[in-house]
Amino acid sequence: MDEKEKKRKEEFEKLGGRGMLIKVSKLFYDKVYEHPWIGLYFQEVPQDRIEAQQVDFMTSTLGGGSVYMGRLPVPAHKHMFISEELFDLRQDLLQEAFVEAKASKELIEKWNKIDEAFRARLVKKNLGDCEKRFFTDEINYHKDPTKKVA
Ligand code: HEM
Repeated sequence: MDEKEKKRKEEFEKLGGRGMLIKVSKLFYDKVYEHPWIGLYFQEVPQDRIEAQQVDFMTSTLGGGSVYMGRLPVPAHKHMFISEELFDLRQDLLQEAFVEAKASKELIEKWNKIDEAFRARLVKKNLGDCEKRFFTDEINYHKDPTKKVA
């Protein structure tokens, strides 16, 4: 490990390290899976798998080492209809998880910045902006079931 990497790793540990990322991710996905709308997007995904992926992804982006082996966020979400409203909802649940995990202000700022950097590339305006990942793939799209349609 060179000096630059060592410094990044030290900064990562100051943010709470992997232990804090595990705590936040668990609290966050508990909320996501329980939620009547965003929870629908995760019906086919085991919670422990997505939590582990999120921890590895954030470890890598926050300087804790190159441990993330999954797909990059843009290709991983291309078949999902994610509206601005859904993206905002996800961020609200994340903020609740930060508070409950007692995450530091520095970690919250850094994490939110990374998250927000993906907004424009993950949010779709129309269903037609979604792309199947393979021939028989289905578009992951759910209306908010708590909203009354006139
Ligand atoms: C409302 C917004 C979002 C929704 C509904 C959503 C939903 C999902 C779902 C359902 C999966 C599992 C995909 C699968 O296993 O096939 C997934 C994977 C993932 N998501 Fe999101 N996501 C959102 C935003 C984000 C953001 C903002 C980030 C990062 C900044 C992110 C990072 C990831 C990563 C790293 C994976 C794992 C990719 C892989 O399977 O290799 N997601 N997401």
